[in-house]
Amino acid sequence: MTVNKPPMGWNSWNTFGESINETLILEMADFIVENGFRDAGYEYVVVDDCWALKERVNGKLAYDPEKFPRGMKYLSDKLHEKGLKFGMYSCSGLITCAGYPSSFGYEWTDAKTFAEWGVDFLKYDYCFKPHNRTGEELYRTMGLALKNSGRDILFSACSWGADQTHQWIRSTGAHTWRSTQDIHDNFQSVTDLFNAQLSILPYGGKNCFNDMDMLVVGMNGKGNVGLGGCTETQYKTHFAAWCMLQSPLMIGCDLRNADEGALALLKNKILIEIDQDESCAQTYRLANNHWGVPEKMHVLVRPLENGDLAIGFFNFGEDERIFQVALTDLGIDVNAGKTLELTDCWEEKISYPFNNLVRRALGAGESVVYRAKIVDRKDQ
Ligand code: GLA
Repeated sequence: MTVNKPPMGWNSWNTFGESINETLILEMADFIVENGFRDAGYEYVVVDDCWALKERVNGKLAYDPEKFPRGMKYLSDKLHEKGLKFGMYSCSGLITCAGYPSSFGYEWTDAKTFAEWGVDFLKYDYCFKPHNRTGEELYRTMGLALKNSGRDILFSACSWGADQTHQWIRSTGAHTWRSTQDIHDNFQSVTDLFNAQLSILPYGGKNCFNDMDMLVVGMNGKGNVGLGGCTETQYKTHFAAWCMLQSPLMIGCDLRNADEGALALLKNKILIEIDQDESCAQTYRLANNHWGVPEKMHVLVRPLENGDLAIGFFNFGEDERIFQVALTDLGIDVNAGKTLELTDCWEEKISYPFNNLVRRALGAGESVVYRAKIVDRKDQ
């Protein structure tokens, strides 16, 4: 199976951790369908760690019947009926990160079980790796087992960038790879994950996307990874950054109880289109020495499939700053009468560069992404 755009969906871990069950998953699925999230592109509903019994049964992974009384095939059928896809979780090591049975040594058996359950997506973690095996061996084994399971299963590797994951992950057949440590629900964590991403942008792209971890938008400090929460501005910057860098978009909040602002942000059409853009060109950074704190001010650009540019200004600093980029630095020939028509991702307002500069003041933690169309200058 070929994966041409970053997967989008919802994952149970960020908010619910161990407290998962069939009712919760089906309620979330209903919310996704009834509130336009499926239509916005969120299609995978992923049950993360803690779904299994603590012991295998006849050598096979077994679901916890207290949490999932009608089993995983039932859940899978229900999700499919709703036009959604079903994701599950396992781990490449000796036990999962939360201490449940893992797939090491059982890769082929487990891939078959997942296929029988109608699983469409497998998140595959990296805890408790046996010392005598390498990460690449473990992921290659599961990658091959999934390919031969008789079902198309998106392989979502989750080795947090450890052991130089970027050097070998594409050899495993993984369709996405966690390129960061675990996210927490605060702006420091968002900032750290963003920064950690910048040196490994060339490794992402079609069929093996860099995965910056599940979103914390809408969590407001509640849940399993909730540590203080972010402000509305900071959540907007988080979502814009993930879209600008073409990360998978896996919602991590309890959608049923999220505020209107978060729900609208998660459905931001301009940003989602940029995330899902099929060119999958590498996002690049423009040098920005003249702002004094270059490590906190980022100008990111990505050429899109239809010839537009996505241009993102990100202020991860503590003060307001003026962001500015010259059209010539974007490869645009102003002498040939070209300029940009800029659509602001927040207000959908259209503006044009002044003096051949795209310029914007942004406060602490603020960001903007423009979808920029190359047009003829009207005054020429
Ligand atoms: C690891 C992963 C998380 C989550 C937990 C579950 O920490 O990185 O995303 O899946 O394990 O135990």
